[in-house]
Amino acid sequence: MADKHAKLQLTTENTAELPIYQPTYGNDVIDVRTLGTHQYYTFDPGYLATASCESKITFIDGAEGILLYGGYAIEPLAEKAQFSEIIYLLNHGELPSQTQNEQIQQKLLQLATVPTNLHKVLAGFTNDAHPMAMLMALVTAYQSHYGTVDLNSVDAREAAIIDLIAKMPTFAAMCYRHSVGKDFIAPDANLGYAANFLYMMTGEKPQAELALAMNRLFVLHADHEQNASTSTVRMVGSTGSNPFAAITSGIAALWGPAHGGANEACLNMLREIGSVEKIPEFIAKAKDKKDPFRLMGFGHRVYKNRDPRATFMKISCDEVLKATGNNNSPLLAVATELEKTALADPYFQERKLFPNVDFFSGITQTALGIPESMFTVVFSLARTTGWLAQWNELISDPKHKIYRPRQLYTGPKEREYVPLEQR
Ligand code: SDX
Repeated sequence: MADKHAKLQLTTENTAELPIYQPTYGNDVIDVRTLGTHQYYTFDPGYLATASCESKITFIDGAEGILLYGGYAIEPLAEKAQFSEIIYLLNHGELPSQTQNEQIQQKLLQLATVPTNLHKVLAGFTNDAHPMAMLMALVTAYQSHYGTVDLNSVDAREAAIIDLIAKMPTFAAMCYRHSVGKDFIAPDANLGYAANFLYMMTGEKPQAELALAMNRLFVLHADHEQNASTSTVRMVGSTGSNPFAAITSGIAALWGPAHGGANEACLNMLREIGSVEKIPEFIAKAKDKKDPFRLMGFGHRVYKNRDPRATFMKISCDEVLKATGNNNSPLLAVATELEKTALADPYFQERKLFPNVDFFSGITQTALGIPESMFTVVFSLARTTGWLAQWNELISDPKHKIYRPRQLYTGPKEREYVPLEQR
């Protein structure tokens, strides 16, 4: 795999020769696994320059603002693909034929209904509990119904994957219904994946434009290479834990406002700003190093250009606002002016901070009738497809190892224990 090597001069006598691997796209990688034999580790808190795995699923070019699923650019996929195609593409590496796509859709419908005694799981939550906590509980509880997954069997892994993907819209809608104190709604056998989610949320069959917008939102959020929650899913999966536990850990990681929770935080920020007149005050706060406030929905570890998903999310946002008669949404006016002001500001320009996928998704989801507490649940629903594809890629590698990073220890040297009576 390596026809290039990096020579690392560790001491005058000690040189490490490290293989360099060349990817399809992106930076070459230096294989540092043998550094331990030279008594060295690499040091990379936050993994700013670490490739944790080899993967064929998704590629991001942060400098150019490119996102590929299985080699296909996100733009035509968001424009034209049904989410069932994305499920097939991320899990099998190819777009499905029409027959394969229909088979996936039938499976998703057959498996969408959840065991009724899972309804009791949410009874333990107050109505105002965060729906992300409820979602974690449902996925974990469902494992006891699904049973053991033989991790060595391709078929067993694929069966568990499609089953959980099928259940997620029902679980997500249950979290919403519990939060508003309403009965759960069973999936409708005549609705597609995205439309059924909106139906199970509201009890009404959605307009075609709104179902399309929901489908696009799922497509845009389906996978994003080795982000924090996907890396968490891989880490949990690497211990041999079951896929339901791995997905529960991914939901927990996505919840944070620095990650998937940014869509909820962004909408709350737009509400707090309230009017375009107050934008300068918040831009100043975002730039003030003494103020922990950051512009939610802005900036990204990888994208140092526009997040291609944000561009498409804005298109979808405008379509949904039009379809729901909210063209002159005050929140959109604030978001649009905030984006313009930030992009013109040297602080954001110098740091290459652009709107990310979360910047317009909150306004879109609000117009779809989804409350902000549910935004990251929707993100989890969509990302479950990517998480499971990444989990499967890890598990299917017979040589995969448990994730076990080392550290730079700067604690105390060894010292004698002083008995309590002498202290
Ligand atoms: C997602 O990784 C993924 O792929 C994630 C995701 C996915 O699909 O899985 O894309 C989904 O999580 C999108 C990101 C959502 N988060 C937010 O919108 C929260 C606001 N953004 C920031 O918290 C931040 O931009 C991060 C967490 C997204 C990225 O942080 P980094 O890469 O660790 O960058 P950093 O914190 O080192 O920031 C670099 C500089 C700093 O200033 P200096 O110290 O250099 O002077 O940029 C500043 C930061 O203070 N900065 C911001 C800012 N983001 C970074 N300043 C103001 N507002 C911001 N939003």
